[in-house]
Amino acid sequence: MVVNKDEEILEEELKPVAKKKVTKKVEKAPDLTDLPGIGPAVSAKLESAGVFDLMPLAVMSPAALSDAAGVSAAVARKAIIAARDILDLGFSDGMEYAKKRADVFYITTGSKNFDELLGGKGLESRAITEAFGAFGSGKTQLGLTLAVNTQLPIEKGGANGKTVFIDTEGTFRPARIKQIAEGLGANPEKVLKNILVARAFNSDHQMLLLDKVGEMIKAGEPIKLMIIDSLTAHFRAEYSGRGQLADRQQKLNRYMHDLMKLAETHNITVFVTNQVMANPAQLFGDPTTAIGGNIVGHASTYRIYLRRGKQGSRVGKLIDSPNLPDNECVFFVTQDGIVDKA
Ligand code: GTP
Ligand code: MG
Repeated sequence: MVVNKDEEILEEELKPVAKKKVTKKVEKAPDLTDLPGIGPAVSAKLESAGVFDLMPLAVMSPAALSDAAGVSAAVARKAIIAARDILDLGFSDGMEYAKKRADVFYITTGSKNFDELLGGKGLESRAITEAFGAFGSGKTQLGLTLAVNTQLPIEKGGANGKTVFIDTEGTFRPARIKQIAEGLGANPEKVLKNILVARAFNSDHQMLLLDKVGEMIKAGEPIKLMIIDSLTAHFRAEYSGRGQLADRQQKLNRYMHDLMKLAETHNITVFVTNQVMANPAQLFGDPTTAIGGNIVGHASTYRIYLRRGKQGSRVGKLIDSPNLPDNECVFFVTQDGIVDKA
């Protein structure tokens, strides 16, 4: 066999690198490519079909997987069995399930009416709450109030923790946080220190910041709330062409999935804001729809539509909640943040 000299050198150069790789211990959650018959190309195909990790694959039928991934039924069956093995899919009893739910906590909005709308205690952990509405409807104000309230002790409706505020539009206002903190009789400087703000400059950066948040929590930061204001603005601006809608939705889908995973893994509360666009097809009622459509809607656990009401009030309406009635509430944005009465 003739050995190409260059290749030989290349092999030599690669050796120490390869060794290093082995000695470095990587703790990595299993992903699609860890399954037999699923390489990067098939994994990419699955992602575009909305399958990002083992769980949705494990519960697919071989025929559906074979269709989505473009692999044979036999390969599909093997991959499903392997995924079920890795996940150790089975039944968990009611006690186990209840234990997992026992550490769920709530963060008050500052308005009793609003908290009632969400079931009584405010925003739930291990869940995504989405507020959508026109400009000036109070989405950012709600976020800023929540960032302060998260720091309250548990008996006062808080979670005794810090907030991460991912700001995509440059709307975070330290002075406004101080005002809201003063309204609660808290030390404004201390309150501000417990809010970790990151400006996301584009959608890729916005996605990358989620990993950072995960790392901070693992490093011991007591983060209880994550705010993304706005969830969709970058995606909307970057994928504005007609032909780009599918790409945008796929990226958003991935992002929502990652958000939910973060909320579940670390037991945190996620609050996202979303804009609306005119929907000329709607003949009755309010002719506006949330950006991101069903992708965002289905991934959000609680979805609230905010609008201006009478006499400077704001109205929040709960949309399509799986366990709560579709009610409305009235609240006000004041100097002290979100409250019941002006
Ligand atoms: P976009 O981000 O533009 O889509 O809007 P948004 O829904 O985030 O609106 P935002 O939460 O910024 O609400 C702005 C409104 O809140 C203002 O028009 C005011 O009515 C109200 N607001 C903001 N700050 C104060 C304040 O200090 N005192 C009072 N009374 N109202 C305030
Ligand atoms: Mg805003």
